[in-house]
Amino acid sequence: MARLDVLLIVRGIGALLLAILAGALLAAAAPAVEPDPASPDAAARGAYILRAAGCASCHTDHAGGGAFLAGGRMLSLPWGAIAAPNITPDRETGIGGWSDEDFVRALRDGKSPSGRTYYPAFPYTAYAAMRREDMLDLKAYLDTVEPVAAADRPHELRFPFSVRLFLHPWRWLFFEREAAESDPAPDERLARGRYLVETLGHCAECHTPRNMLGAPKRGSHMAGTRYGPGGASVPNITPDAETGIGPWSEADLVFFFRTGFTPGGDDVQGEMREAIDDGLRHLTQEDLEAMAAYLKALPAIRNRVSTAVPAPAAVSFGDDW
Ligand code: HEC
Ligand code: HEC
Repeated sequence: MARLDVLLIVRGIGALLLAILAGALLAAAAPAVEPDPASPDAAARGAYILRAAGCASCHTDHAGGGAFLAGGRMLSLPWGAIAAPNITPDRETGIGGWSDEDFVRALRDGKSPSGRTYYPAFPYTAYAAMRREDMLDLKAYLDTVEPVAAADRPHELRFPFSVRLFLHPWRWLFFEREAAESDPAPDERLARGRYLVETLGHCAECHTPRNMLGAPKRGSHMAGTRYGPGGASVPNITPDAETGIGPWSEADLVFFFRTGFTPGGDDVQGEMREAIDDGLRHLTQEDLEAMAAYLKALPAIRNRVSTAVPAPAAVSFGDDW
């Protein structure tokens, strides 16, 4: 055999091996199902809902190198820390044994299959208004995720918050499903924006200040707070010209949702960075534009949020104390 032929064969084999290796690497990195809101496949639509609803940020322990959606992340609250459970389809430690109705009930009513009431750190108060088709698509997607055997970590809450019964009066006071279901919006784009921001994106969970009982203050919707999750300062995202996002254009907002860069050139950090990386940056241009239009149409509220890090003692008492 001529030397050139041998060389070509060796090169050919090399290229083939490289291609196989690259394929294996890509398969490891890419999720099994690609998110696509317009797909005929329920799991692909569900993968998109998972992005828009930011489920992965809480249910994946990114910092601890945990598996996708296998839980383990501790969310810090003024009353201690709450562990996000494993929502992979593992039958023993995840939600593999759940029916569609069990899943819908968890998101709509905040109740487990055995009737346990969930802590609202799981933002079902926002997800309650999710369309049933979207919940079922989400479940179809979760069923395709790699099952991971990982036992849920225990919550670390102080008394009386450690007692689930405490949640009943709280729910009675603040969990109004009718309020979560929306009034008619002026047009289709704003209605889509509202669904993405209020229901799926649950932006108010962080961007609205809370009263001393931990319920969002109604008159301050999206007006920001010094006492956000984990003690972070969360900016005012109403269109107030001086203290909010008044000066941002819709294009600035869309750029921010894709990249985490503000018009001032700041690179966003912390929980908002996760909300972008796990969710917002994967959404369609049309959806991001609808979100931007909706935010710009909110009532402007003047509320200057101090960026100074509050003292830990102050964090425990919320904005009213
Ligand atoms: C802000 C953090 C956060 C986000 C976002 C979040 N969850 Fe959770 N989730 C939790 C916490 C914390 C719990 C545990 C609540 C409890 O034990 O009372 C929970 C519980 C659950 C449960 C119950 C699991 C069980 O074993 O009983 C399911 C199912 C679930 N979440 C699904 C989802 C889905 C689907 C999404 C996205 C649509 C989502 N979660 C978004 C924090 C979050
Ligand atoms: C888990 C908490 C959390 C959630 C959920 C969240 N945010 Fe944020 N957001 C933050 C924090 C904290 C910052 C400030 C980050 C920083 O300054 O580095 C921020 C910053 C922002 C900013 C920049 C504002 C400014 O003046 O710099 C915008 C815009 C924003 N968020 C919009 C949204 C929208 C829209 C949603 C819902 C799709 C959302 N956020 C959901 C916590 C959150």
